[in-house]
Amino acid sequence: MTTPAQPEAIEALLKEGRRFPPPPAFAAQANAKPGIYEEAADAEAWWTGWARKLEWSKPFTQGLVWNEPFATWFADGELNASVNALDRHVRNGLASRVAYYYEGEPGDRWTVTYGELLDAVCRFANGLRKLGVKKGDRVAIYMPMIVELPIAMLACARIGAAHSVIFGGFAPDAIVDRVNDSECVALITADQGWRRGKKVPLKANCDEAVAKGMPSLKHVIVAKRVGDPVDMVAGRDHWWDDVVKDQPSTCEPERMNAEDLLFLLYTSGTTAKPKGIKHTTGGYLTGVTATHKLVFDLKEEADVYWCAADIGWVTGHSYIVYGPLCNGASSVLYEGTPDFPDKDRLWEIVDRYKVTILYTAPTAIRTFMKWGTAYVDKHDMTSLRLLGSVGEPINPEAWMWYHTHIGGGRCPVVDTWWQTETGAIMITPLPGITTLKPGSATKPFPGIGVDILDEAGNSVPLGGGGYIVLTKPWPAMMRGIYGDDARYKETYWSRFPHKYLAGDGCNRDIDGDYWFMGRIDDVMNISGHRISTAEVESALVDHPDVAEAAVVGKSDDVTGQAIAAFVSLKSHANGTPELADELRDHVSHILGKFVHPKYLTFTQELPKTRSGKIMRRLLRDIAEGRMLGDTTTLADSSVVAELQSRAVEEANKEE
Ligand code: PRX
Repeated sequence: MTTPAQPEAIEALLKEGRRFPPPPAFAAQANAKPGIYEEAADAEAWWTGWARKLEWSKPFTQGLVWNEPFATWFADGELNASVNALDRHVRNGLASRVAYYYEGEPGDRWTVTYGELLDAVCRFANGLRKLGVKKGDRVAIYMPMIVELPIAMLACARIGAAHSVIFGGFAPDAIVDRVNDSECVALITADQGWRRGKKVPLKANCDEAVAKGMPSLKHVIVAKRVGDPVDMVAGRDHWWDDVVKDQPSTCEPERMNAEDLLFLLYTSGTTAKPKGIKHTTGGYLTGVTATHKLVFDLKEEADVYWCAADIGWVTGHSYIVYGPLCNGASSVLYEGTPDFPDKDRLWEIVDRYKVTILYTAPTAIRTFMKWGTAYVDKHDMTSLRLLGSVGEPINPEAWMWYHTHIGGGRCPVVDTWWQTETGAIMITPLPGITTLKPGSATKPFPGIGVDILDEAGNSVPLGGGGYIVLTKPWPAMMRGIYGDDARYKETYWSRFPHKYLAGDGCNRDIDGDYWFMGRIDDVMNISGHRISTAEVESALVDHPDVAEAAVVGKSDDVTGQAIAAFVSLKSHANGTPELADELRDHVSHILGKFVHPKYLTFTQELPKTRSGKIMRRLLRDIAEGRMLGDTTTLADSSVVAELQSRAVEEANKEE
């Protein structure tokens, strides 16, 4: 493990002296009241209070049962996630409240109310049942950001099938791995999607994936988004419209145990095989509703909330689908990118729907900074009252720009730290009570136990940094890795006894505020996407010309990190610029377009220790252009000089 940020960078960050106390008017109306942390001192009682706000078909009597590292929460209770997201509100007279303001990339717009969403979910759930999908099955979903995506997720939840959403940017191989790992019985997709005016061949990608072998798969269901003809295989493929045709708009929900699987979401670890993170029903819904209500200060009858993430990642699961719907919020659902047709698309949307709460990522904010304020200034942004950030550390400059130019200096910024594994936000300001510091995620959410440990596992006193760990179970925590309990224990619970290892480096200042420094394992964070170095390496060595490859993350002003690959070739091949481009495309072809090595350096040999291990620390130093540390264990020191000069050439080329 390594410390990602350099000491100088950390020091500069901790000298950040700007402070933003809660504006009094905001504090006066805030959901979070002073005393909330004390209220949560008995974490189990606090979480139980939030769980009771959900609707249970069989109320629970148990709270936490902790059989380390396996937790159950509210395990004798029964509830259904789709009932909590929809039926409950419709029964309470909110059928006509807008659930989603839909904005398609080409500019098609419509609203979906809670009543309409419930009808659509019931019809699709009935259709799935008719195809034979049943409680306990797994269903893969590979879709663009269209309303059918949350409908498909909620329909699965209604009939007790766990969904496994695969981000629409992934390539066919990623679909194969995920479908096969959890033996999905159905795959729900769309004909094509829109991205910057171009058509994304989603159904064709599914066909390519199915052709590689998916023994468990029985059905492919295809929603029509673009309308061009696609190949349909009789018996296996079904149009969405046919699946829902003649289905009634009511559907008896499955009674789910609180600990029944709600979904799997695959995320990158330190090996090439992604991990299927398990989330169950009762605890997950408790975590996302509590955090969504308090962190975003949600006033569901008045706010227009917009989480500008993709549902294919955990942010979308928790804060576009389950959190907002269970809280009865009205959200914007946007299909496209921020720069299509022009770079003011997001601000046009804020203005059109009078968005009050916006949640996005630092990489996007840094991109907006580069584009300049003219795009923002074209639009009325005064509806905004709260801003959120997620996915990677936010640098103080980006924080200040967001606060000043998007928030008009009046909106609190909540920098929220969490992970696919944690299910819900873990470290965050509470708007209205927290004094904000640009670049800091500030404090643990009420009920969450956090510590910073040194190498030896000792708690680091305030003012120091180290490994961030979570010290006690919380309801939305992952319940394990699908089919691999041993990996769950090894990855998260073996480095320090009785502590959950998050994999991030973090500093805690003398006020107890947290400053995140990035990953301390071989996971990169590129534009807020978690990508393992091992996955990229294995895609590179899959190419017939490549002998060996090593990949590291290199800091990047816009994307946080960029992929830097070092490649040695087989003797028949030449390291030409054309081959470098071919290798970049090869990686994208295997992993998805969003994975594209920015730097690719050819080398005769990779630097290895005498025992043959690739020296990643050294490669990281070379990629960052840093003074090299100790190379005494290196087998052949001439390798380093060569690599260094080539990496410099490569970096200059990019600039
Ligand atoms: O390194 C941390 C970073 O993103 C990782 C989790 O990635 P993922 O599971 O894909 O979930 C992303 C969205 C929750 C973390 O281990 N990360 C996420 N949010 C922050 C962050 N790093 C610093 N500050 C954040 N606010």
